[in-house]
Amino acid sequence: MEKIILVTGSTDGVGKLTAAKLAGNGHAVYLHGRSPEKLDATISEIRTMTKNEKVDGFVADFSDPDGVRQMVDQVNRDLSKMDILINNAGVFKSPEEYNKNGLDMRFAVNYFAPYLLTQGLISLLNKGSDPRVINLSSAAQSPVSLNALSGQESVSDWESYAQSKLALTMWSFHLAQACPEIAVIAVNPGSLLNTRMVAEAFGHHRSSADKGADILYDLAVSDKYKGITGKYFDNDQGCFAQAHPEAYRKTEVDRLIHATGNLI
Ligand SMILES: NC(=O)c1ccc[n+]([C@@H]2O[C@H](COP(=O)([O-])OP(=O)(O)OC[C@H]3O[C@@H](n4cnc5c(N)ncnc54)[C@H](OP(=O)(O)O)[C@@H]3O)[C@@H](O)[C@H]2O)c1
Repeated sequence: MEKIILVTGSTDGVGKLTAAKLAGNGHAVYLHGRSPEKLDATISEIRTMTKNEKVDGFVADFSDPDGVRQMVDQVNRDLSKMDILINNAGVFKSPEEYNKNGLDMRFAVNYFAPYLLTQGLISLLNKGSDPRVINLSSAAQSPVSLNALSGQESVSDWESYAQSKLALTMWSFHLAQACPEIAVIAVNPGSLLNTRMVAEAFGHHRSSADKGADILYDLAVSDKYKGITGKYFDNDQGCFAQAHPEAYRKTEVDRLIHATGNLI
């Protein structure tokens, strides 16, 4: 059955491969990128490669919460429903440490943007069939400092990345409980996949980026994962697994969600 799917950060890396695989299997796929030129080129490339014309896209810089809000408005104007949202856009190293609002770039792009986007698309997802939200977590997860979250404490690239990914995982579990009609999965697509992010951050890789795209594809559309929600899939192990222990501490999750509400 054809699905309507939005994949964020799909102009490169795992997101682009996932979008191409979904389009290749006949789904209607909406890409997302921050550069209009790169987005248009990627849409054309995937349309030609897959012979699927139902490929389109949205532009938004996810380091800017106002840009995310504008994209929410546009998606709600253009689509009548959404079956799958893959929150894939992410950043590890950034030329600027903070966005215009004083938020650390990792928190802005990896946590606040998918949070805002998903909240704004809940009603579209509720109209979808077997709706699923797939959030790109990581094996790197570190307890969230609320001062780092608000941009008042400067931490290393690794620390802000790992904190943003645990924040995303904690919010994923929260969202699964708050919206039981939508399946929400946090996933580590595999560590050190062959992408630009990994090349910039570590200079070497361990596995092909297809490993990540394959699990995102399956979690998004396979019947095998239908109805599973509020869980963490670890593709290093190839199965559902335990996320960081803080993700299961209700007081910590409530504290994070409360602080997030105040900050946005
Ligand atoms: N690769 C791994 O080993 C690995 C492991 C664990 C988790 N992950 C997660 O998997 C996801 C994909 O990572 P990847 O390795 O495929 O990275 P990537 O190749 O660097 O791709 C990242 C994507 O996010 C987009 N993006 C970055 N900053 C953005 C911004 N400010 N606004 C809008 N879009 C932005 C990029 O757009 P441009 O094309 O314009 O740069 C690109 O499309 C990330 O969430 C990452 O944290 C990856």
